Amino acid sequence: MVRENTLSADDLIGPVFVNETLSAPSEVRSMPGVIAHTPASVVDEARRLEALNVPAVLLFGVPERKDKSGSQAWDRNSVVQGAVRDIKGATDLTVITDLCLCEYTSHGHCGVLRDGSVDNDLTLELYARTAVAQAQAGADIVAPSGMMDGQVMAVRDALDDAGFENVAIMAYAAKYASAFYGPFRDAAHSAPSSGDRRTHQMDLANAREAMREMRADLAEGADVLMVKPALPCLDIIALARRNLDVPLAAYQVSGEYAMLKAAAANGWLDGKASMMESLLSIKRAGADMIITYFAAEAAEVLRGIE
Ligand code: PBG
Repeated sequence: MVRENTLSADDLIGPVFVNETLSAPSEVRSMPGVIAHTPASVVDEARRLEALNVPAVLLFGVPERKDKSGSQAWDRNSVVQGAVRDIKGATDLTVITDLCLCEYTSHGHCGVLRDGSVDNDLTLELYARTAVAQAQAGADIVAPSGMMDGQVMAVRDALDDAGFENVAIMAYAAKYASAFYGPFRDAAHSAPSSGDRRTHQMDLANAREAMREMRADLAEGADVLMVKPALPCLDIIALARRNLDVPLAAYQVSGEYAMLKAAAANGWLDGKASMMESLLSIKRAGADMIITYFAAEAAEVLRGIE
């Protein structure tokens, strides 16, 4: 009766990888328990999450063909668009698509390059095309994650022009340049081949800037704001919760998952207890929803409690 915060499967969003280069589902080396799926097996993963009462998935596609502009991102027959159609056809899940180019470009950057660095405005046009392709495939929510300035407005305008007024935007609004994304880049084959993402992702030292980024995304039309990573940014989640009256998502990223799993595998931490503690602390900080690689595992624990 006196517990101030609770965790429920309803709060969780499961990230799902669909990889066109795989002939069979395969575990991500640095993320024990996380499976990269083939276009055929991804629907089983979605069904499994739905059966556990997880309401939504966040989809990441890894295409076979990559090029300089990342054109598979907006190809209507690309691996991720196919997975959206299949999952929407087979489940009632809310499907959220990560909207970035880093999994699709041959150089691994989140946008197109000009003179060796990411060109913000040229990239916006490609995000706009990608958003429409994802919506056409059936995505309920698109999640622009590249941290280009103006990306939410570009995506909102493109969706509206194409008749997708009801497709929502979950903005990776306060996304820091974090070391905790390492294992994800293994899974999504998206590490930049040179340089880093510090020209567009945020400096971990900054909190006021996070508020500015979030307010800008709201003004541009974001429906849900995301803070990423989660545990290193609990203060940012709390700050956003106090100052903004919109749904807030927190992304417990690949490295946060990997470190808990590694410690648990060594017997240094109680895996289940530390998983639930980390998720509840993100909830307490103020997140309404948590994107987490623990979604299925935590939902199983929660099913036992409920
Ligand atoms: C794409 C993207 C990344 C993550 C989510 N979307 C990688 C990055 O910014 O390098 C990271 C997620 C994770 O670590 O779990 N831009």
